[in-house]
Amino acid sequence: MKQYNVGIIGATGMVGQRFAILLENHPWFNVKVLAASPRSAGQTYEQAAGSRWKMTVPMPEKMKDMILLDATADIEKIAEQVDFCFCAVDMKKDEIKALEEKYAKAECPIVSNNSAHRFTPDVPMVVPEINPEHIEIIKAQRERLGTKRGFIAVKSNCSIQSYVPALHPLKKFGITKVLACTYQAISGAGKNFETWPEMIDNLIPYIGGEEEKSEQEPLKVWGEIKGNEIVKAESPQITTQCLRVPVSDGHTAAVFVSFENKPSKEEILQLWKDFSGVPQELELPSAPKQFIHYFEENDRPQAKLDRNLENGMAVSTGRLREDTQYDYKFVCLSHNTLRGAAGGGVLLAELLAAKGYFD
Ligand SMILES: NC(=O)c1ccc[n+]([C@@H]2O[C@H](COP(=O)([O-])OP(=O)(O)OC[C@H]3O[C@@H](n4cnc5c(N)ncnc54)[C@H](OP(=O)(O)O)[C@@H]3O)[C@@H](O)[C@H]2O)c1
Repeated sequence: MKQYNVGIIGATGMVGQRFAILLENHPWFNVKVLAASPRSAGQTYEQAAGSRWKMTVPMPEKMKDMILLDATADIEKIAEQVDFCFCAVDMKKDEIKALEEKYAKAECPIVSNNSAHRFTPDVPMVVPEINPEHIEIIKAQRERLGTKRGFIAVKSNCSIQSYVPALHPLKKFGITKVLACTYQAISGAGKNFETWPEMIDNLIPYIGGEEEKSEQEPLKVWGEIKGNEIVKAESPQITTQCLRVPVSDGHTAAVFVSFENKPSKEEILQLWKDFSGVPQELELPSAPKQFIHYFEENDRPQAKLDRNLENGMAVSTGRLREDTQYDYKFVCLSHNTLRGAAGGGVLLAELLAAKGYFD
């Protein structure tokens, strides 16, 4: 496979640090550029991020002395050195939109973890096992932007990465309505227990903007390309409540679902077991071998025990049973900063690389 030089925009942040770890020994991607805000630019990665390193493994040795560039002022310089960039920055939504478009227009494709462009109609929002065909909209996006190589592709919010994969193979039974309550880890807010001690022995019943994302994003992921845009699916109806819980990593969801044609429990379990997509077919380096793992034990999946399954890229499910008001209920879990953030971004980039979008 061809090798690609890549940049990490927002390298000093929580998601950026994850990207650094995941890309340290990546077989296709070689980190050439690290960038962050003007506050960090000009410092080495170690100087800028060493004291706020939140990963449990050390900063990659070969990146420690790399000098951080300014993500906004150095766009041309960055674009010249890399084949594409990952982007995860904490800025205002309109600033992120403009920044990502500037990179695309400088012919530097962007694989983004930010939410700013998730509902731009010609920007694909991809879970590679579910809607890999949405990357074909990039042709229309390039025409709009007037670029040859440059484009923006995004991954979805971390909250939906557990229940949308579990629901997807069941769509053939006509999913009519879904209720999902999510129990989300503090790393989803870029925090750990040292930086957010108020979360110890606590639960906060509100995460700004999360319920809207959790209800709307699945409909774009399940949407269809029509002309120059991705048109959102009209069903199922989805309602959610998203809570912050005292867990370091791993978002859990308690899900209730009803169907037009109710399947048997055995049919659901078989479809979860057999669910395999383009990433598995193409044997992409970050793809889990088994995407959905079902636990028979009543007390699983557990965030602490099961979030790292298949390098944090698999989804765990459990407690599938019939419900009195919906057809079924079950619990699912995914690692929010791996599958739900940087890992999902790397898998999307691998899909785009395998399909020739960075050439
Ligand atoms: N944490 C998660 O699980 C998760 C999951 C999915 C998506 N996301 C999304 O990913 C993005 C980053 O999240 P995070 O948790 O990694 O945030 P974070 O830890 O606060 O890191 C923010 C990053 O943005 C950079 N930045 C801030 N202002 C900037 C500016 N004006 N120009 C350029 N860079 C700037 C920071 O650089 P400095 O260090 O120089 O300030 C830092 O590298 C957000 O959009 C978030 O919604 C996060």
